[in-house]
Parts: sequence; structure tokens; C-alpha cells
Amino acid sequence: MTVNALTSSTPAATADTTRVHIDLGDRSYDILIGEGLLGDAASYAAAPKSSTAVIVSNTTVAPLYAARLEAALRGKHAKVVTVALPDGEEFKDWQTLNLIFDALLGHGADRKTVLYALGGGVVGDMTGFAAASYMRGVPFVQVPTTLLAQVDSSVGGKTAINHPLGKNMIGAFYQPRVVVCDLTSLDTLPDRELSAGLAEVIKYGPIADAAFFSWLESNLDALLARDRSALRYAIQRSCEIKAWVVGQDEKESGLRAILNFGHTFGHAIEAGLGYGEWLHGEAVGCGMVMAAALSAKLGLIGNDVAARITALVARAKLPTVGPKLGADKYIELMRLDKKSEAGEIRFVVIDQLGTASMRPAPDALVRDVIDAHTA
Ligand code: NAD
Ligand code: GLY
Repeated sequence: MTVNALTSSTPAATADTTRVHIDLGDRSYDILIGEGLLGDAASYAAAPKSSTAVIVSNTTVAPLYAARLEAALRGKHAKVVTVALPDGEEFKDWQTLNLIFDALLGHGADRKTVLYALGGGVVGDMTGFAAASYMRGVPFVQVPTTLLAQVDSSVGGKTAINHPLGKNMIGAFYQPRVVVCDLTSLDTLPDRELSAGLAEVIKYGPIADAAFFSWLESNLDALLARDRSALRYAIQRSCEIKAWVVGQDEKESGLRAILNFGHTFGHAIEAGLGYGEWLHGEAVGCGMVMAAALSAKLGLIGNDVAARITALVARAKLPTVGPKLGADKYIELMRLDKKSEAGEIRFVVIDQLGTASMRPAPDALVRDVIDAHTA
């Protein structure tokens, strides 16, 4: 597989809007990062004009931010309505998706209607899927309000709902017209959600950028303190790396799978405990510790590198020890992972800090890692 060189970047010296471009031919778009962007009409210049806009949010985020977004959109759309879905991963399902279609049809939405996803990854994934399927596709915009959504879920066009038998099993690849990341919206995010987002930030270092990993080691305290310039660079670099990966492999035929570092173990934790017990980012954090340990057991990285990854995950206030479900249960759940092939589990492993690949691993080694990292 040809891998284009990833160019390095440094923190911007200015407080102006930072732009990251995602290059996908006629589906290319920008990710905007800055302060106050959510309420600024200029942020939505790339979205088409239309008579109707529908903001999809939830009962937590809509009271905080929907009025600001509605005001920003009024010059562009004559009619702006907001739909507030129930809040929670357990509502990422057909019934709740149907509430979006009910609102679209009830308000006479047509093929030009633009959907705006205002919220975290749950709202973003559902709105994207609704946009992909309503009248066979209408334009949509991502306005992510969690750190996790700003660095990962709003970028790259994966949209989905859950099925009782599996997470994100029903969905589509469908790209937004623009992603608007307002740093000020993170002020109201609970600390636990901030840490969950940091897990997805940390993942980009080991898989693609050793220098970014070192930067995170130096700046983690500033990120936990919600320092705006530190957050801006963490989001910018995460989006640059995601844009670099998605630009080469939009539909995950190979390279894109590295974005799932820590997710194979993590999904087993989420499913094994029951969804919602641990946040997705918490499970990914612990999963990265286990995947780093597996990489060390495979002789790819030294124990010192695995220890650095573990230390950073712990400093982000994320769990580093998984629940004691038993190795058999972990393995049974990991076989259901979308990366498995013919029942063989494939793990994203670190070849050296800043480079990852995907491979199977001997059962005994996987069991050793599970036994050593669960309690
Ligand atoms: P979430 O959407 O459930 O949001 C977390 C919580 O924070 C919710 O209660 C939400 O209402 C609240 N919230 C959101 N913004 C807020 C704000 N500014 N202030 C106060 N509260 C706020 O969770 P998430 O972590 O953002 O996203 C997780 C979802 O993303 C999962 O469903 C996961 O499958 C999906 N995901 C998708 C991709 C992708 O590529 N599409 C990637 C990673 C994760
Ligand atoms: N979050 C993994 C991906 O977008 O591929």
C-alpha cells in the first residue's frame, strides 16, 4: 500500500480560525477550529443555501447551543428548526433515527434541506446517516461539541446507528460539507467526557506521529486544564492525521484501520460490560494499553514505549486496567470485531512509536496480555 508522507505541523501562533483540509476530490471539505465559530454565520459558508435547515441535537446540547446556531443560520435558510433527540448511546438506534425522519417530513424538508449535527459523536453519527438516506442524500454539516467528536467522529464520513447485536453495524460513508469545531463549546463538557476525548487524541501519536506523542507528554496538563491554545493544536494535529489517513483510504480497505488502535480490546470491554458502563473513550484508553503491551510481546516495540503509552493514558485520567471478564470472553467478543477475517482477530499494533500496522497474534500472547491487564 502506498502511504503518502505525513507533513509535520506546529502549534499556530494566532488565535484566528485554523483550517484543516480533507482532500477527497469532489467530496473535499474543511475542518474549522477556533473560538466562537458555532455562532458565526461565516463558518457555514461551504453549506448550500436552502429554504429549510434542520438542526439535529439532543436534550443536553440543544438548550446550551441551539439558539446560537439557529441565529447564525437565519440569513442562509428562511426556516430553521431544531430537533432534540433523547441523549445517550442507547438511543443510537432505528427508533430514534426515525424521529429525525419524522421531523424532516413533518417540516416539509426537500432534497435541498441542509442538516446540521449539533452535539457529540452520537448525534453526529445519526445525523450523518439520516442525511445519507433522506431522499437518497441531502447535504449535512458537522458541528461537534465534544472533544471526541472534534478530533475523530465528525471527520471522515463514517455514519451509523447501533443494532442490538452490534455497535455501528448499520450505516454509510457520507461526508459533511464542513466541520465546525468551536473550542468554546468544550467549556461545558464534563471532565469525564474530556478525558474520553483525550483517548482518541492520544491514539494519533503512536499510530502516526512520534513528535505529537512527545508534545502530548509535555502538554497533557494544559489539555486537562482546557487551555485553549493547547486544545486548538491537539484538535488540529488529530484532524491533520485523520485527514491524511482518510484521504488515502476513505472506505477502509487497509490503512484507515490503524485509526482503530486500542479499539479491538476496547470494544470487547464495552460489549462485555454492557454499553454505557464505560465511555467509548475510556475503553479505547485501556484498549491502547493492552494493544501496546501486545506490540511489546510481539517484539515490535520495547517495554519502555509501552510504558510511555500507559503512563500518558493514566495521566489523562483514563483506566489502564480492564474488567476481569476472562480471556475466553474477551476473545469471543473480539472475534466479532469488524476487522476480523474468517474468525481470525486482527489487531492494530505499534511497529515503532509513530507507525502502526494490522496483524493477527498468537492466542497465547493475547491471553497473557488480557490476564496481565485485567483485574
Ligand atoms: P456523546 O455524543 O454521547 O456525547 C457525550 C455526552 O456529552 C452526551 O451526554 C452529550 O449530550 C454531552 N455533550 C456533548 N457536547 C456537550 C457540551 N459541549 N457540553 C456539555 N455536554 C455535552 O459521546 P461522544 O464521545 O461525543 O461520541 C461517542 C460516539 O461517537 C459513539 O457512538 C461512537 O461510536 C461514535 N464514534 C464515531 C466515530 C466515527 O468515525 N464516526 C469515531 C469515534 C466514535
Ligand atoms: N474512528 C475510526 C475511523 O474513523 O475510521
